[in-house]
Order: sequence, then C-alpha cells, then structure tokens
Amino acid sequence: MTAAAMAHTAPQGAAFYVSRLGMTSFRSYDAAEVVSDGRPLVFWGANGAGKTNILEALSLLAPGRGLRGAKLIEAMRRVPGKVPQPWSVAGRVRCGNDEVALRTGLDALGRREVRIDGEKAAPGDLGDHLRLLWLTPAMDGLFTGSPGGRRRFLDRMVLGLDAEHGRVAATYEKALRERQRLLNDHREEPSWMDGLEETMAQAGLELAARRRHLLHRLEAAIDEAESAFPHAALALDEGFEADGEEALARAFRESRRRDEASGRACLGPHRADVKVRHREKDVAAADCSTGEQKALLIGLVLANARLQAVAHGGAAPLLLLDEIAAHLDEDRRGALFDEICALGAQAWMTGTDAALFSALGARAQHIEVKDGTIRETGN
Ligand SMILES: Nc1ncnc2c1ncn2[C@@H]1O[C@H](COP(=O)(O)OP(=O)(O)OP(=O)(O)O)[C@@H](O)[C@H]1O
Ligand SMILES: [Mg+2]
Repeated sequence: MTAAAMAHTAPQGAAFYVSRLGMTSFRSYDAAEVVSDGRPLVFWGANGAGKTNILEALSLLAPGRGLRGAKLIEAMRRVPGKVPQPWSVAGRVRCGNDEVALRTGLDALGRREVRIDGEKAAPGDLGDHLRLLWLTPAMDGLFTGSPGGRRRFLDRMVLGLDAEHGRVAATYEKALRERQRLLNDHREEPSWMDGLEETMAQAGLELAARRRHLLHRLEAAIDEAESAFPHAALALDEGFEADGEEALARAFRESRRRDEASGRACLGPHRADVKVRHREKDVAAADCSTGEQKALLIGLVLANARLQAVAHGGAAPLLLLDEIAAHLDEDRRGALFDEICALGAQAWMTGTDAALFSALGARAQHIEVKDGTIRETGN
C-alpha cells in the first residue's frame, strides 16, 4: 500500500487497528460500541465505570481467555432479577485497505463460538487476524511474583512471533503429564517411560532454544531504540542443565524417583524463569521501586511491539494498556505517548482521570466511560 493510501485509511493512526468494537450482554454492558479512526484510544472514568471490561472484550477477539484470564461464563452480564444472556463481542480489524469482521461469544450451551467474516472458525484462527499485547495492573508483580507468571509472559512473547512455539509446548506438556500420571499411578513401564522422556527432551530443548532466540531479539530491540524507558537485561533460567537431547533424557530418567515422591517433575522447561535486571542501575528488577518496575515492564512491551512491527511489514500490534498512567510521572507518561505514536500502534489505554492523557491531545480519541455508556469527549 502506498503512503498516501495509508494516510487516507488512517489519518493520524495505525496501519493496523480495530475500527469498531461492539459488546452485547458483556459484563457491565448491555449493548455498547466503540468506533475508531485508527488513532490510539483513551478511556477515562471512575473506578468501576467499565474501562477494563472494554479492554477485556477486545482481548477476547484474539486466541485465549483474554486479559483477565477469566472463565468465559463469568463475562455474562449479571443483573439482579434477570436471566443472564450469552455474551458476544464483535470487532472489525483493519489492515491497510483490508477489513475483517471477528466475532466471539458463548452459544446457548455456554460453548465458545467464533466467526470470521461470518464463517465459523476455531479460536486459534483469530490469531491470524488480530495481534495484540497487553499490560495490566495484575502484571505489576511480575518481577517479584512466581516464575510461572514470567514464564507465561515470555511464552506469550515467543508465540507472538513464532506460532510453532505453541505446538512444541503442547507436545512437551502432553508427554510431561503422561509421564507424571504413570509415576503417580506406579504404572511405569520402562520402554514407555523412555519414549515419553525422549519426547520431552526433544521438545524441551526446542522450547528452550525458541525462548533464548526471542530473548536475544528482544535485547537487540531494546538496545537499538531510543527510549525513555529503562533497559532490561534478560537471562533465561532454562529449568534444566543438560547438554543435548540424550543428557536431558537421562536427567529425566534419573529424576523418576524424586518426581514420583513429589508428585511433579522437578526439572524441565516447564520450570523455566527469566531473570530481569535494570541495566542502568545494575540491580535485579525485583529490587527496583514500583515505578521503576512499571517502567521496565513498559520498556519490554514496547520492545516486543517493535519486534512484531518489523516482523509484520511495519504494522505494530494493538497495545492494551490498562491503568497505564498509574505509577508514571508526567515526563514518563509523555514519553510513553510519544513512543506509542512513533511506533504507529493503536493503543487502547485506560485511566481514572482525563487529565492524565491531556499530553496526547488530538493524537488520540478521548472517551469517557460512565454508567455503562461510552462517549467520545474530544481532547
Ligand atoms: N459479569 C458481570 N456482570 C455485570 N457486571 C459486571 C460483571 N463483571 C464485572 N462487572 C462490573 O463491571 C464494573 C466495571 O468493571 P471494570 O473492571 O471495567 O471497571 P474499571 O472502569 O476498569 O474500574 P477501575 O478504575 O477500578 O479499574 C464493575 O463494577 C464490576 O462489578
Ligand atoms: Mg480497571
């Protein structure tokens, strides 16, 4: 597409964006709609107004359970005295001159339904049409919390660039579960166990390699860009120490008794962790202040978005930034807005106060959320 055509479809906004989001019987919304011209969007309003619900609705148009990770049934709008109806979310995604209609929700039996341009599809197919990254207050404890949170964060970043990662992870986890089941039931048959451990070793090394590769690319993206956000140094703890497939299979074999006793596998890529350090300060991320941790996390998400943009011909993914202004001082906030605009990403941001976003001016659409209604306010 020519630059002129791009300018026509999205005057000041992104090359890749959601032009319309509709919600029906979704959490606090009976029926509501957001219409966008491609600029970043700011949703402001009081606590409980329904800002995060909008971001969650949008996140459900991508594969997975959305940014709350909630059970799908929980999103059904509950109103005292009324029978809950199945929810649905519909969106139109524009990429250049192409537009696709995505729809998801629950059917009458409470099962997930997905439609792409009206045709039935699998949830995983949504990933071909909508790429998004999110940052939520629940992730504030990422550096201080359990390794599982960091591992999922890492794997989501790998998956964003490498769809094959999901298949390898599924192969590994299937063999891991089967092996543990045999150990727990005391039904291990040597040749069957050997076979499972070989599968685990092969898939496990592949997972580790894909994760390492992503971290290298991410560090390069952090190094290359001018950013107001701190630089992170990233080191992968792979969850095992073994040189090659045979050595890893042997390590699994030798840990059978321990895994049987503890009821879970003590080593392997399912125990991986990412160690993050604040480079300028040379301290572990977990020892940084709340605001510094937030800034580090934003730096990582922006670097990941830049990587994805390069991988998709310059089209940055959507960024869902819930309560993004919290913990950021005015300079950092301004720098974040500038970096989002420079990236050409359609960011969907929330905050309690319109003034937090005033530095964006006409570069964004400003929308007030109040009493279940969504109203554009100008800037
Ligand atoms: N299934 C549901 N049915 C009806 N209402 C719901 C449902 N789930 C959540 N809500 C309500 O939706 C309201 C808005 O929630 P939301 O998390 O979007 O608020 P918010 O604007 O992000 O607030 P905050 O600034 O505190 O983050 C809450 O009052 C919540 O109780
Ligand atoms: Mg919220």
